[in-house]
Amino acid sequence: MDRFIVTEDGSHSLYSPQYHQQYHSLQGALSEAVHIYINLGLRPILENATAPVHVFEMGFGTGLNAFLAWKLADELRKQIYYTSIEAFPVTSGEASLLNYEALTGQSGFMKLHESSWSGMNPISDYFSLRKECVTLEEFSSTEIFDVIFYDAFDPRSQPELWKEEIFSKIAAQTRQHGVLVTYSSKGIVKRALRSAGFTVERHKGPGRKTHVLKAIRN
Ligand SMILES: C[S@@+](CC[C@H](N)C(=O)[O-])C[C@H]1O[C@@H](n2cnc3c(N)ncnc32)[C@H](O)[C@@H]1O
Repeated sequence: MDRFIVTEDGSHSLYSPQYHQQYHSLQGALSEAVHIYINLGLRPILENATAPVHVFEMGFGTGLNAFLAWKLADELRKQIYYTSIEAFPVTSGEASLLNYEALTGQSGFMKLHESSWSGMNPISDYFSLRKECVTLEEFSSTEIFDVIFYDAFDPRSQPELWKEEIFSKIAAQTRQHGVLVTYSSKGIVKRALRSAGFTVERHKGPGRKTHVLKAIRN
């Protein structure tokens, strides 16, 4: 497969010829996902949750973030309702070549890819997945989310997805004190998030990446 990448921690990723971007950090797809989306974003909220946690992901892509969130839900025995949108779905053939089961020692990865692109799919006792094949610009929902995994391509290739208008739309669907986590710590991203109603924290990134962002909905 010509868009297949092996990142520095041995985990696979994909390349998008359309955006000239890889789906994850070349320093490690799995390390990045665990560090930012799971340990910085989801875990603290899920550990303290007394009610189901609603997660929204911008960009389902390989399904790696959803897979890790599912396994955390099962481990902590806490309910997650996970909504993920994707404009350009990865094929099942591509997904079946990704090595996330082998590297995590967990099973069931393809269940996420084979689940339907409409409605809430029960995946386990603790994890339900709603995938929508839609752009962020067109996405609409009445759901209010506790955690946002903001995993769009880089602001240089998709500047329209890192603007105040988009973050205002996300903010309107994030509960007060809910969190948004993302790998980009660029100044324009911080400013757009602040203008949209988030308090922005800079955190150490995975590997050699200096900073990533966690933004708290005011
Ligand atoms: C950085 S990748 C991240 C993917 C995913 N989180 C993962 O772990 O593989 C960005 C994803 O956003 C998708 N995407 C690009 N533009 C989009 C848009 N306007 N709306 C929804 N998804 C989009 C891409 O196809 C890609 O799958």
